[in-house]
Parts: sequence; C-alpha cells; structure tokens
Amino acid sequence: MAKKQKVLITKKIPDIAKKMLQDAGFTVIGGNNSQSLTPQALIKKSQGVDAVLCLLTDEIDAHYIKKIKGKVKIIANYAVGYDNIAIEATKKAGIVVTNTPGILSDAVAEHTIALIMAVSRRIVEADAYMRAKSYKGWEPMLLLGSDVASKKIAIIGLGRIGQGVAKIMHAGFGSEIMYVDKYKNIFFEKEYRAKRVTLETALKQADIISLHVPLLPSTTHLIGKKQIQLMKKNAIIINTSRGPVIDEHALYTALKKNQIGGAGLDVFEFEPKPVTGLTKLKNVVLTPHIASATLETRVEMATLAARNIIEVLTGKEPISPVV
Ligand code: DGY
Repeated sequence: MAKKQKVLITKKIPDIAKKMLQDAGFTVIGGNNSQSLTPQALIKKSQGVDAVLCLLTDEIDAHYIKKIKGKVKIIANYAVGYDNIAIEATKKAGIVVTNTPGILSDAVAEHTIALIMAVSRRIVEADAYMRAKSYKGWEPMLLLGSDVASKKIAIIGLGRIGQGVAKIMHAGFGSEIMYVDKYKNIFFEKEYRAKRVTLETALKQADIISLHVPLLPSTTHLIGKKQIQLMKKNAIIINTSRGPVIDEHALYTALKKNQIGGAGLDVFEFEPKPVTGLTKLKNVVLTPHIASATLETRVEMATLAARNIIEVLTGKEPISPVV
C-alpha cells in the first residue's frame, strides 16, 4: 500500500482544515498547539512532510526552504499577505505557495471601519471612563470626538480590502473618496465618485487615511516622519495592512505631540510589540492583528488553505497561488 502523504499544520486553526485533509486521505501532524513553533521546531517538524499549512507568524525564509527542499510540494499560507515567505527561494525550489485572497476582505474592511469609528468617537477612552466609574452625569464637553460623516477618506492601495472600505464609507457616511494606487480604476471612480491622487495629495487633503498595501521593499515606511508632517492636524490614520508600512517611532512622536488627530492600528512594526509609549497614548486605538478574526472568515481561510493542499497533492493546479 502506498504511504499516505503527510501535511503539517503549524498552529491551531479551525478544525475544518484538519478534517478536510484527513478525509482526503492525508496524515495530518500538528495543528493542536496554541504556541507558535520556533524556527528550529518548524524545520524539524517539516521533515518528511509533503505540504505545510503555515501562518503569517512562521518565518518561511531561504534557510527553511533549503532544509525542506525536495519533499514539500506546497506551502499554504493561512493569510492573504505572504511577506513572511521568501518567494524567490520557493520558486527556485519548485514549491507552490498559496494564500487566502478575497475571503477575508469584508472582515478586514469592517475592522477598518471599526477603528475609524473608535478613534473618531473615542470609544475606547469612553469605555475605560465608564469602567473607572468616572461618569457622574451628562456633560456638554465630555469626550468630544469628531464626525465621520462626509469626511474625506484616502484609501492607500486599492485592492479588494481598500475597495471594501470605500464601499462602506461611501454608502454609510457619504465620504468623499480618493485613492492612491499604481493603477487607475475607472469603474471604481465612477461607482464611488472617487479620484486617483498622489500620496502627497492624499496626505495633505484627507481627514482619514487608510492603508491597504502589501508589505514590499517599496511600501516599507511608506508613511514616515515626512509623510506624517503632511497630514492635517485633525486627520487620523488607520493601518490594517502590515506594521512596517508605517515608521511606528515617527507615528508615536507625532501622536504624542498631537501633530495629528489620532491613529487606529491593528498591525505593528515590531509585532507583537507596539513601540515603547504607544500604549500610554489616548489618541490611538490598538488591536492585536485581528482584522480578519471573525469565525466565518477564519473557517473560510482554513477551508481554502486545505483545498489548495488537496489540489496540489492530488496533482492538480492550486486554487490561489501567489505567483
Ligand atoms: C492576512 O491575511 O494577511 C491578515 O493580516 C491576517 O488575516
């Protein structure tokens, strides 16, 4: 009897992935641990496996690829972003890499809106105020925030998530929409009366700046001290993309000096730790990289990752290859 093909799941994800892979006849190892594997443990556990279902926190670098080359046919990343993977090395090693595009766009767009609202209406501060039993009665000047309706929003990176944010802001808040992207999107412009602008114009004119670019050398520190200085005094910036897109030390300084209105961050430059002092500031709302964390979305991400592995290990084309 032919030996069963083996799949490694690097950390606990919704059970559906394991079930699908087992039902398809594979042996599944891992997937029960709530702690990430160390780089050494990842290499060790990957020996002799045919596929790896990994997370954005797993460093799939050239060294790892060298160690697993020859046997592993597919690396299915449980994320849409794949900046954790040395793509050139996987290409050279002939390993397919897949991600989870599309299915998490709504969840991430919703979380972006939640951060816009939380920062603008000071929801986190207000909640803390209540819990501290500080509320003594209605106050005309208590916790004044700023309107979201009719504000100008700049979407930086017009992929599916950026478009999802624009759709909600347009329909729900009547926002004026501008976008920054390599490509002009005529359909999008018509649908949302949006205009394509340069990053400099977006930073100078928008009240809300929302980042939706992948992490690449060209987008690392896309927003630094110089760019933050271009922002309006009351403007807010939201990041649900990748932490290093913002120079977090520069952002911290600007927030501390109240040079801008505020920030909503789901991702951090030195994840998992925000830069020193950030958690002390009131004009920033922080969430722990949970923009895609709805049960429905995480189940779909697990399903797509498993389907990609099943396709590749049964000699078919992957559903969502990254290159
Ligand atoms: C991704 O998929 O890239 C998100 O950051 C996590 O869901």
